[in-house]
Amino acid sequence: MSGAAHERAGAAAQVPDVDALVAAFTDAFGGEPEGVWAAPGRVNVIGEHLDYNGGPVLPMALPQVTVVALRRRDDEEIHLLSASDLGEEDARWSGSLSGVGPGTPQGWAAYPAGVLWALREGGPPYDAAATGVDAAFASTVPIGAGLSSSAALECAVAVAAADLAELPHDDQGRAVLAQRCVRAENDVAGAPTGGMDQAAALRTEEGSALLLHTADSTVEQVPFDLARAGLVLLVMDTRAKHSHAGGEYGDRRATCEAAATTLGVEHLASLAGPTGGTSDEPGPLGDDESAAADEETLSALEDDVARCRVRHVLTETRRVRRVVELLRGASADDIGAIGPVLTASHASMRDDYEISSPELDTAVDAALSAGALGARMTGGGFGGSAIALVRSGDVEAVETAARSAAADAGHPEPAFYLAVPSRSAHRLR
Ligand code: GLA
Repeated sequence: MSGAAHERAGAAAQVPDVDALVAAFTDAFGGEPEGVWAAPGRVNVIGEHLDYNGGPVLPMALPQVTVVALRRRDDEEIHLLSASDLGEEDARWSGSLSGVGPGTPQGWAAYPAGVLWALREGGPPYDAAATGVDAAFASTVPIGAGLSSSAALECAVAVAAADLAELPHDDQGRAVLAQRCVRAENDVAGAPTGGMDQAAALRTEEGSALLLHTADSTVEQVPFDLARAGLVLLVMDTRAKHSHAGGEYGDRRATCEAAATTLGVEHLASLAGPTGGTSDEPGPLGDDESAAADEETLSALEDDVARCRVRHVLTETRRVRRVVELLRGASADDIGAIGPVLTASHASMRDDYEISSPELDTAVDAALSAGALGARMTGGGFGGSAIALVRSGDVEAVETAARSAAADAGHPEPAFYLAVPSRSAHRLR
């Protein structure tokens, strides 16, 4: 693998320069941080827009991380420094913890300050971790690429604060921390997202994808050894920026919640049937029986758009189950069988959920025509990244095809990364 290797993250963790970060901390605040923590970005293998619909999702942590050097303060002050570009805002923010709340602060500081606020609001025992802090950040998670740079920022602070307060952050503790981080994102940053990204940053294990049952927040680790099968998961960042504070994401969520009320369920995903497909089933979309049952469910909805959105939720729920079933049953040779399921997921997001974009469709189509076994957009949509399941020997060809299709269409040049299932948030020093 040569060529555009400089654009890709290989198996080695992509950690920012920690010495430089500590030096920046000392320059800004004087003295030393109490420690340094890292939290990863993520890609979602499959299960899109299911986390607020009570469905299963299957994200994995990336090697790219956000790192925080942090020290508690005796007062309520929060001093934040971004030592790398965490967005368009100022590199420094200072304020008081008591002044943080819905809508304040704005920009990147909403995420770390919001976590401290949410820890306090959530009550015992994690409110003991809500103190004033001096904190400096650096990150290798690309911003606006749909790889959850904001969740990485939140989760690095959550783990640092819990660690210093000597509060448990085993999986049970991390499930609580994930909820606090979601609250920071929903209430302080004002992005109405679900909980997938924070679970990916806090609850994954190296070498595995995380099956998160969002109806009850339980998790299972699903081994995801692509290398053994001679495959890679290639991230294609279209460099078409996205944001979830805008209206489209919230519209999708509101449509689903209204449809759930009409259909008399708490969560739409519960209407996807108990198990979905069986191992013998050839097609990626499930059987005709499921499709017929879906149409009957959908007939109770008057609105065409709502019917399409709900159809995505139902079919995507079964696709996640199918992928998990294939991965669990797979010998090294047939992990590639998940490829068509990934591609079917893309079609559903493009046609039923309508969250893809010309840049994402171009990348997915180009990857498939250059030999990818499957490809789909990943994350919230409306820009950001797609993933492609590719034989190791075809990576260059897929990158070349995606690059030249983007150029032909007048889109930005994509960037490429290898998605290696990595570890969740942890202490570095
Ligand atoms: C964004 C949100 C997640 C999830 C995905 C779509 O990444 O932050 O909560 O809803 O979109 O699956």
